[in-house]
Amino acid sequence: MTDGTCPADLSDLSYVESFGPGQGFAPARASQAAGSVQLSLNGTWKFRYCESLRDLTQGFEAADFDDSRFDDIAVPSCWQLAGVPGPPRYGAPAYTNVTYPFPVDPPHVPDRNPAGEYRRRFTLPPDWDSSGSAVVRFDGVDSCFAVFVNGAAVGHSKGSRLVREFDVTHLVRPDDNVIAVRVHQWSAGSYLEDQDMWWLSGIFRAVTLINEPAGAVRDFFVHADYDAGRGTGILRLDTSSPATLSVPELGITDAEANAEHRIPDAEPWSDEHPRLYDAVLTSPHSDIRFRIGFRRIEIRDGQIRLNGNVIQFRGVNRHEWHPETGRSLDEATMRADAAAMKRHNINAVRTSHYPPDPLFLDLCDEYGLLVIDECDLETHGFAIAGWRDNPSGDPRWLPACLDRIERTVERDKNHPSVIMWSLGNEAGTGRNLERMADWIRRRDPGRLIHYEGEPDAFYTDVYSRMYAGYDELDAIGRRHEPVTADPGHDEHRRRLPMMLCEYGHAMGNGPGGLAEYTELFDRHPRLHGGFIWEWIDHGIAQLTPAGERYFAYGGDFGERVHDGNFVIDGLVFPDRTPSPGLLEAKAVFSPVRIMIDPAARNITVANRHHTQGTHRYRFGWTVEDGGVRVAAGGLEMPNGLAGDVSTAGFPRALIDATASAPDDERWLTVTASLGADTRWAAAGHEVAFAQALLAPGKPPAASATPASSSGRQLTLGCAVLDGDTGELRRLGPFAVRSAFPDFWRAPTDNDVRVAGAWRQAGLDRLERRTIAVERTAGALRTRLRVAPAGARFGLLATLTWDAGGLLSVHVAPDGNWPCPLPKVGLRLELDAAVEEVSWFGRGPGEAYRDTYHATRFGRFSGPVDELATPYVRPQENGNRMHTRSLTLTGDAGQALTVTGDPPFDFAVRRWSPELLTAARHPSDLVPDGRTHLHLDAAHHGIGSASCGPPLPPGHSLAARTIAWTLRFSA
Ligand code: GAL
Repeated sequence: MTDGTCPADLSDLSYVESFGPGQGFAPARASQAAGSVQLSLNGTWKFRYCESLRDLTQGFEAADFDDSRFDDIAVPSCWQLAGVPGPPRYGAPAYTNVTYPFPVDPPHVPDRNPAGEYRRRFTLPPDWDSSGSAVVRFDGVDSCFAVFVNGAAVGHSKGSRLVREFDVTHLVRPDDNVIAVRVHQWSAGSYLEDQDMWWLSGIFRAVTLINEPAGAVRDFFVHADYDAGRGTGILRLDTSSPATLSVPELGITDAEANAEHRIPDAEPWSDEHPRLYDAVLTSPHSDIRFRIGFRRIEIRDGQIRLNGNVIQFRGVNRHEWHPETGRSLDEATMRADAAAMKRHNINAVRTSHYPPDPLFLDLCDEYGLLVIDECDLETHGFAIAGWRDNPSGDPRWLPACLDRIERTVERDKNHPSVIMWSLGNEAGTGRNLERMADWIRRRDPGRLIHYEGEPDAFYTDVYSRMYAGYDELDAIGRRHEPVTADPGHDEHRRRLPMMLCEYGHAMGNGPGGLAEYTELFDRHPRLHGGFIWEWIDHGIAQLTPAGERYFAYGGDFGERVHDGNFVIDGLVFPDRTPSPGLLEAKAVFSPVRIMIDPAARNITVANRHHTQGTHRYRFGWTVEDGGVRVAAGGLEMPNGLAGDVSTAGFPRALIDATASAPDDERWLTVTASLGADTRWAAAGHEVAFAQALLAPGKPPAASATPASSSGRQLTLGCAVLDGDTGELRRLGPFAVRSAFPDFWRAPTDNDVRVAGAWRQAGLDRLERRTIAVERTAGALRTRLRVAPAGARFGLLATLTWDAGGLLSVHVAPDGNWPCPLPKVGLRLELDAAVEEVSWFGRGPGEAYRDTYHATRFGRFSGPVDELATPYVRPQENGNRMHTRSLTLTGDAGQALTVTGDPPFDFAVRRWSPELLTAARHPSDLVPDGRTHLHLDAAHHGIGSASCGPPLPPGHSLAARTIAWTLRFSA
């Protein structure tokens, strides 16, 4: 077991490369256990950045050392981010996914190992009880540090995102104290911290000096079980010394804390109803305030149950990230995350891949989020050499591994939101992991154990996978997954419930295919949902030479080894603006599913909660004709219990409002909104919606203007064409520079698997050959062959304009196509800048064939610039689907309307697809003064193949015959 108790000799720097977890520290304990007299040591510290161990300042820890020439630095902060969004002042951030940024030579690290020397003076507050003890607590220091108080060595530690405390009672005095901390960028500990994220260093979480009265409880463990059958809460505390407990709401006053208390009719805690009870633990001179949540997490009949009810994770993986402060987060940011998750129907968080700032878990208790609390352990870089010498299997690393899990569990053991401990991420397999699991089983049998990296789930209570494909997941759901090496383990695994600890890779545009995953989760009782990878894009704020702000990713700081924009894979942008992917997740995660049957005139609501009834929602309906609201009202739904499906007929007012036939498409929208305020959203916040088409629209009238011609020029409706070449010259008020069928889109990150084939096929450099231009009295037909250089295959396109300005497009493959198409569409370049766009179709946000569930039919409008989604690495974006009509308005108010049959997709941009394809950052997208209008018949799906499986079935766009019509009018 870990030995942190002997004082350290810090003149010897060998601790940096030692396997062990540190020396001189106090035993781990619950975050709530610290005494109430605390002195925050956050703020400005003196700081010197050293290039290596050879560059350290001799005697910097001495109380009387003159630090006036040191810089100032904020604590907490990551030193590589000092100066951001300007140039980094100390070293630079570096991003790698799997690869260690230093040679794999454990436990050694390179000579180039920067260190930070931190110093700060402090005075004890007046209410300090000097008969008690003084403990200094570091909530997070990356990656290894040594502590000195008033010149004396205290201890050293590794384990960056884990709390560490040191007893400094014998060293502090009432005033004029100096704490000095030496932090090393690299250490042996870095081998255990190869998470896919930026490498950042420093004291990045809070530092606190804590006063512990003599005789006070040092640590306690709350066991607040819930017996769902009896509705009883069963409360017992383990305390490190005698104490009394009061829970006023439960009528418990000054009771013996360690005794068992049975509470009939206790209200249980769950993510859906996060009921907490305020409690006080009293020991000599000490009152510790904390909160209790009664709940039971267990596996019964092969399913994960919370308070007896089967749960499904609608989860996300959350790294701690802020574009300016990196892994140092303030309370407002953490609250914003918790609230945004709840507002988007997320019910669970995996704290990938380390325990978060402790405050975040308080928020999970409070807001209602189920937590998989993951240990700070990843050794993925060893995979590159076939996992040889992997620390997870090497006994020399065992104390460090045990120390890490101990610090995770001890700190967070009193949070009801934490329902599973995770041993770490991508650390291969090995005896050390098994020992960590054994340790948890002894210490906290009341929670489940998770780890994904062991294919037989040998150490764990759940079978966890990442990025499994649809067919495989279906097989797992049926317990038909392929066998693995050990029959005993295989049998064990087959009995376990299954979850995806990562899926739906949200890199760039996407993730797509979430609805198809949800369908599988709903179909198979063995499957418990999963956790989308991941919550936030880890972009770093930077400025272009022109002072324009953008978000940097791997390689932008000159790293020699890096993984580019693979770190930009979140549901929210770096500034926490929700991406379309988050809205899609909200839609598929909705806790109620609404279905409308227009023929039967009824509405069905499926309750997807595990506990709550639907009475907490208010249901409403709206009828719109052509996107214009004609009637709206409330809807009485019976209270559906968890898992129930309830149906209600259309209300009278809805039937009356839809009695007569409309002129335009009539859509019914039904919504479910919060009936009362919550901590995370106000009453009225919409949680789910559904739509149904009640009546079709009337076809648009053809243009009455006859066709006319003058020389080569032919006017058909509002289209002016060159009758000889077939080229389009004008559409109503807009001069047209070019118009032709197009199949290319700027590859998305999730196109990665197919984009290579697209490029190899030459789809990014298509050539056109006009086969024929056929001009008749009232029509013009152009036949083209569009194909890449060097290829035998191509596409035959026919564009037929009739007298009224109706364009029929017909596209058919020619030859053998080696790959699916990015899209099939018509690309137009207008000579003027279009400012405003309005449309009737799906909106308001972007949508693709497997990412449209958050959009709804309606009439929308906005400036062209707002149609673009500002992905951190530019790529295909901003598509609007199922458009019935689109109007473009130029700066002088000139307008052009396009209607489509069948409905079409459109995108309007100020730059070409070529520029979008080449851009690395949004600042590369310089408007060219023209309007690039894309009127598309079909797109390839989005999926999540940047890390996940290929597209779900049915979403690939094979080369095939496609025909559609577009009517232009001015
Ligand atoms: C997983 C890993 C994550 C992240 C993700 C890809 O394999 O656990 O940390 O790297 O892939 O973004």
